[in-house]
Amino acid sequence: MTSLVPLYILIAYSIVVMVFNMKGAVNFGLFSGAYALNQNKLNQIPQQALLQDACPSDSILRDGECHLATTAPSEVTFKSNITTTLDEARLTASQQPNFPWTFWPECFSNEETPDPYCLFSDQSFANGRGIFIVTTEPLAYGMLQKQAFKNPESLDRSNHHANPPFVEHDFPIKGRGLVANKTLFRGDQIFASTPLLIADPDAYKLAESERIDLLYRGVSTLPKASQDLFWGLLGHFKGDAVDDRINTNNFEVFIDNISQAALFPEIAMLNHDCRPNAAYFFDEETLTHYVHAMRTIQPGEEITISYIDSEKTRAHRMRRLERNWGFKCDCSACTAHPALTAESDARLDQIQQLLEKLNDWSEESTASPEMAEALVSLYDQERLWAYQATAYKHAAEAYSAVGNRFMAIKYARLSAEFSILDKGFSDGDVKEMKKMASAPEKTWSWNKRVGIKKGGCGCGKAH
Ligand SMILES: *[C@@H]1O[C@H](CO)[C@@H](O)[C@H](O)[C@H]1NC(C)=O
Ligand SMILES: *[C@@H]1O[C@H](CO)[C@@H](O)[C@H](O)[C@H]1NC(C)=O
Ligand SMILES: *[C@@H]1O[C@H](CO)[C@@H](O)[C@H](O)[C@H]1NC(C)=O
Repeated sequence: MTSLVPLYILIAYSIVVMVFNMKGAVNFGLFSGAYALNQNKLNQIPQQALLQDACPSDSILRDGECHLATTAPSEVTFKSNITTTLDEARLTASQQPNFPWTFWPECFSNEETPDPYCLFSDQSFANGRGIFIVTTEPLAYGMLQKQAFKNPESLDRSNHHANPPFVEHDFPIKGRGLVANKTLFRGDQIFASTPLLIADPDAYKLAESERIDLLYRGVSTLPKASQDLFWGLLGHFKGDAVDDRINTNNFEVFIDNISQAALFPEIAMLNHDCRPNAAYFFDEETLTHYVHAMRTIQPGEEITISYIDSEKTRAHRMRRLERNWGFKCDCSACTAHPALTAESDARLDQIQQLLEKLNDWSEESTASPEMAEALVSLYDQERLWAYQATAYKHAAEAYSAVGNRFMAIKYARLSAEFSILDKGFSDGDVKEMKKMASAPEKTWSWNKRVGIKKGGCGCGKAH
């Protein structure tokens, strides 16, 4: 599972020196120094003629060279510290053939930032939902290579928010949440949303005022409906209004292996439960955040996700939620009688011990299918449906390791399905478990623990 992480935590370890300087007028990248521009001069530049003559229609001119419109330019071309109005930025962008963004990017930089951080905004993204991205040019152009931008059909399942299977409900203490209004079965899609914004945690290297400036400007570049969604979000930290909404509601996602904060306003409506009935994952190609039911959810039941790693003991979970999210955990796994929460903690400890043993593939391993069965049962007892893919995977491998074909298949099938819902359809575990489900004897674990001298009893072996 990915987790919901406040932006300030992501940057906690890269606290940066803020450098405050006067903004200087510098050259606009496109003209590579030929024209010194200031705020009001954009309209007077003969851009159209210059560009149309210079490059074929699928390319744009940057630093005197033609680049394919959607390939990352070899060097930074958007220059920093120029502030234009949105209208001017829109006009400039519209005058470039095949320019991928709706507004000419505004950027800031300083000694701490090898690449400037810019605002990239595309109002037509995801069928007019729009998106803005605050990051460096190479990373933004990397995102342009994703299916979400290149192939709008890849978003067929995204952003269908009409007629949802839930209603908004106001709970006495914890506030609003979503309650199912029809029966949901495991695997039913609850949400599939593209982000309104993606913000690079490293943009904290900018002066605070510049970073905030990019975020405000970003929100104002979104289509009206998306702006309303953004401002409708609740915050809970103090400080700037845009920052607070982002910090409170963002999800950490990885795009091209880089951690980014992404905001999916619909999903922010789901409350936390340590024993959630839904799970989520982020699909990098479609830039879509999916939420699916992990078990049958009855009408009237609240739909929940876990904001944290809920395989941790109660005290640990309570601390984490209080610190990162500012609330006291009031889900049943936190508020049960001490005798019961002690049992729960004991199960969680035992889960960790079993995982360690099952992960041991050495000659001395004592791992057995019985151990894996106990693990699966403990996840069940703990109601950790959203995490069960792991237990099933261990069971599949433990049976495969003693050559029990059909039990390996049984658990591989379960693991594949749960992994799709919890880790995403292109996750490595999904591929591995699908392979095992069709041919266990062709996987690395097959018969791996047959004939181990110590420990392994081979009792799960097929007869
Ligand atoms: C932009 O302004 C910052 C201070 O806000 C300064 O440190 C940086 O050098 C400027 N960048 C350029 C390219 O002028
Ligand atoms: C559930 O509620 C939503 C509004 O949130 C509504 O659009 C939908 O039709 C309802 N579905 C059912 C089955 O009542
Ligand atoms: C991400 O980085 C890790 C190492 O840091 C590397 O092994 C892996 O291949 C990278 N993944 C992608 C998709 O680039």
